[in-house]
Amino acid sequence: MRVFQIQDDWGMDHLQLATRPDPRPGPGEVLIRMKAASLNYRDLLVPGRGYGSFTGNLPLIPLSDGVGEVVETGAGVTRVKAGDRVCPCFHQGWIAGAPDLERLTQTLGGPRDGTMADLMCLSQEGVVKAPAHLSDEEAATLPCAALTAWSALVTYDALAPGSRVLVQGTGGVALFAIQFAKLLGAHVTVISSSDAKLARAKALGADAGINYATTPEWAKATREITGGRGYDHIVELGGEKTLPQSLRAIRPGGTLSMIGVLSGPSLAAPLGLVVTRQVRLQGITVGHRDGFEAMMRAVGEHGLRPVIDRVFGFAALKEAMAYLKSGAHFGKVCIRH
Ligand SMILES: NC(=O)c1ccc[n+]([C@@H]2O[C@H](COP(=O)([O-])OP(=O)(O)OC[C@H]3O[C@@H](n4cnc5c(N)ncnc54)[C@H](OP(=O)(O)O)[C@@H]3O)[C@@H](O)[C@H]2O)c1
Repeated sequence: MRVFQIQDDWGMDHLQLATRPDPRPGPGEVLIRMKAASLNYRDLLVPGRGYGSFTGNLPLIPLSDGVGEVVETGAGVTRVKAGDRVCPCFHQGWIAGAPDLERLTQTLGGPRDGTMADLMCLSQEGVVKAPAHLSDEEAATLPCAALTAWSALVTYDALAPGSRVLVQGTGGVALFAIQFAKLLGAHVTVISSSDAKLARAKALGADAGINYATTPEWAKATREITGGRGYDHIVELGGEKTLPQSLRAIRPGGTLSMIGVLSGPSLAAPLGLVVTRQVRLQGITVGHRDGFEAMMRAVGEHGLRPVIDRVFGFAALKEAMAYLKSGAHFGKVCIRH
């Protein structure tokens, strides 16, 4: 089968097209013919050895997200059958319950082989059926970015209609957060570096927008939007530069979901505000299969459609990665197998 793999050393230069023998499903496993994949910011970091502490073995097939058709099942498989369209779970070892090190370390696209392969062989426990109304590219966007937004807003919070939510940027996680927050009846503010992207976010359902490039002290500008009350939930994707603003914009008792560190990983924030405002800081690392299945039901029930910016061919993975890195995208960048 055709694969893309980080070959014999770390670094983008070692990411290459290659072939591997076709895998065969063992007991409890399913063989999936992959149809599409999608890129996350994380996939840009993995070839350079992830977040600095990544210890996967090489060669490694990158990308965590994708969708495919089950073409063969091993002995004892009951969860899915040949012909089903499934997405692999980002965390292959986390079905439900509280996270622990074992559950959090079996992730696709590093250290486990990912979705840039014609065929994937996975445990039946590590796949979830995809909603029927979605195209392959749309379904391929769901395992990481969408579940991360869902975990933040649904699994680890209980947003009520009328809640105020702030979302940072207009990338993959951010647009799913806008869509899910609107589904839950929340009022949504988006911050972006681009007025054009803010207009598109509003067309997607966002109620208010602030340009964080022209208004770096954006917390002040949010006071009017929330009537001075502050946000019930902030989807924190910026990290170092945005957290100080978020702590000024959150309401007392509000939840700050720590998801991304796009502007830097160090903590330089007024921590006293966490105490005096009794802020709940909730780290998120994608989510478990139970959450993924609940999210799939919601996506199917409401006919929600992921926002796709651009689709590249399988052989154009590096071009797709360069495009994602440029930050020009609005929504997801996908690969058609
Ligand atoms: N913890 C988890 O489970 C988890 C899961 C998925 C992703 N993440 C993390 O979440 C972040 C976003 O991932 P993604 O895949 O959605 O990325 P993405 O699609 O590449 O989106 C990046 C977008 O973030 C915005 N942005 C960049 N710098 C910013 C800043 N300083 N302040 C506010 N917004 C900023 C930009 O939006 P504008 O162009 O509109 O300014 C940019 O387009 C990454 O750090 C990623 O590692 C974490």
